[in-house]
Amino acid sequence: MCMWNEGVGGRGASEMASCLLRVLNNNVTNKKHLIIWSDNCVGQNKNKIILFVLIFFVIHGIFETVEHKFLISGHSFMASDRDFALIEKRKRLMKAFVPKDLHEVVTSARYTPPFEVIDMEIHGFWDIKSLAEEFLNTTKVNITKSVCIRIEKECPFKIKIKQTYSDVENWQIYNVLKKGKTLNDFKKAELLKLAPENKINDVKKKSLLSMIPYLKDEAHKSYYRKLLNREDSTGVEEEPVK
Ligand SMILES: *[C@@H]1O[C@H](CO)[C@@H](O)[C@H](O)[C@H]1NC(C)=O
Ligand SMILES: *[C@@H]1O[C@H](CO)[C@@H](O)[C@H](O)[C@H]1NC(C)=O
Repeated sequence: MCMWNEGVGGRGASEMASCLLRVLNNNVTNKKHLIIWSDNCVGQNKNKIILFVLIFFVIHGIFETVEHKFLISGHSFMASDRDFALIEKRKRLMKAFVPKDLHEVVTSARYTPPFEVIDMEIHGFWDIKSLAEEFLNTTKVNITKSVCIRIEKECPFKIKIKQTYSDVENWQIYNVLKKGKTLNDFKKAELLKLAPENKINDVKKKSLLSMIPYLKDEAHKSYYRKLLNREDSTGVEEEPVK
């Protein structure tokens, strides 16, 4: 499970895509056919930026085929929901003051096998959005209407789409490589790190600041003072106002 706090990044498509890349680009499996199930959230899961990562996997030989399937809105129950329930249960038994404590909640929530935590604050996010804009043209594709997207190594830019769950529906095929770009350009494209961005809003900042005095541990207090006084978080006073 990838974890980070809002002081370093948000919950948008580039962050989600970075997590996918971090988890799956790491020789976690020698299987060659990947199926991803996700919910229908357009902002996080169903967009050009995620599509870029899936094509990236196939072009770099990490997988030969990738299928991204979306659950019907409102009817989705995923295995991950059960995992989250375990974590919630564990959280009720432990006190978490700082993110590190939450990592412990997660890693101790299940015994076999325990959940792993990938700390995205250490690894950082990539600016996948820029590359997706540079290489992909999805104007013709109805990504938001699709229920399944398939990418195959023979023609990784000719993505296959289905708009219903029916087995008899034929795949619609779209070339999503932008005009003027080649496979070679894509292979050479360099992923750059995304600068951390503080997404803690003012209301949350205020609220966190007001709770610092109630923390017992000096290290915890100092953690939050630092977090809330990062250079890019403007307008925050050091001492909480009553
Ligand atoms: C994207 O593709 C459409 C047609 O499929 C084309 O009209 C449009 O100019 C393309 N956009 C870019 C930025 O290449
Ligand atoms: C997307 O799909 C909807 C319905 O399936 C259709 O009305 C719309 O025109 C499509 N948009 C594009 C850009 O193809």
